[in-house]
Amino acid sequence: MPTAVVTGANSGIGHAFAQVLIREGYDVIAADINVTEKLTSLQCDASQLDVTSPSSIASFASHIGDRPIDLLLNIAGIMLPKDEDALSTVSLAALTQTFAVNTFGPLLLTQALLPNLLRADRAKVGVMSSRVGSIMDNTSGGSYAYRASKSAANSVFKNLAVDLRGKGVAVVIMHPGIVKTQMTDMGRGIPEAVAPEEAAEKLWGVVKGKGVQDTGRFWHREGFELPW
Ligand SMILES: NC(=O)c1ccc[n+]([C@@H]2O[C@H](COP(=O)([O-])OP(=O)(O)OC[C@H]3O[C@@H](n4cnc5c(N)ncnc54)[C@H](OP(=O)(O)O)[C@@H]3O)[C@@H](O)[C@H]2O)c1
Repeated sequence: MPTAVVTGANSGIGHAFAQVLIREGYDVIAADINVTEKLTSLQCDASQLDVTSPSSIASFASHIGDRPIDLLLNIAGIMLPKDEDALSTVSLAALTQTFAVNTFGPLLLTQALLPNLLRADRAKVGVMSSRVGSIMDNTSGGSYAYRASKSAANSVFKNLAVDLRGKGVAVVIMHPGIVKTQMTDMGRGIPEAVAPEEAAEKLWGVVKGKGVQDTGRFWHREGFELPW
C-alpha cells in the first residue's frame, strides 16, 4: 500500500484530498496544526503538525520513522484578511507569518521527509500554490504577503524539482481555482467557486498523471499549465 502525507487535512482542500487518497488505496498520514474531530474522522493516521515549527516537524518526522513516503502534499496555508495585507497595511508580522506557513513550512517539511521520499519508488511532492503567485498573471494587485508567499513557494518547488529530478522524485505545483473553504469565506459572492471535493478530485487527476518528465511545472486544476 503506498503512503501519502497530506498537510492542512483538517479543513478545506487538504481534507478533501486526504479523502480522495484514502479512497484510492493510500495509507494516508493526515496532518494539521489543529487536530479536531474532522481530522480524526478520516479513516487514517491523524497527526498534529505545525509546519512553522522546526520541533513540530522533527516530532512528525520521527513519528513517521523510516517508512517510505510515495506522495507528500503540502496543502496547509493561510491568507490574512485583505485589510491586513494591502499596500497601506501590510506589516513585517503579516509577511513573516504568511511566509512561514506558505513558503518556509513546505520547504522545511519536504527537507525533513526527504529520506522517506527517497526510500519510495518514484515519489512525488506537491505544493498547493495559487494563481495569484503568478507574477506574469498579476492584474489585480494587493495581497502583498499572500501573493509573494505563493510566488516564493513556486520558486522553492521549482528549485526542488531541479535538485530531485536525478533522484527520481517528481514535483507538482498546483492551483486549485477558487474553492469554497474557510479561506474564501466559503466562496461567498464568487460564482466560479467550486467545492473542495471537486478541486481535490481534479487535482488528483493532475498529480496522478505527472512524473519526473513533467517535474517543476505549475498546473491549474483543469490540467493546463500556468505562467510563472
Ligand atoms: N480556497 C481557495 O480558493 C484557494 C485558492 C488558491 C490556493 N489555495 C491554497 O490551498 C491551500 C488550502 O487552503 P483551503 O482553501 O483549503 O483553506 P483552509 O480550509 O483554511 O485549510 C488550510 C488548513 O491549513 C491549516 N494550517 C494553517 N496553518 C498551519 C500550520 N502552521 N501548520 C499546519 N497546518 C496549518 C489550517 O488550520 P486552521 O484552520 O486550524 O488554522 C487549515 O486546516 C492553501 O495553501 C491555500 O493557500 C486555496
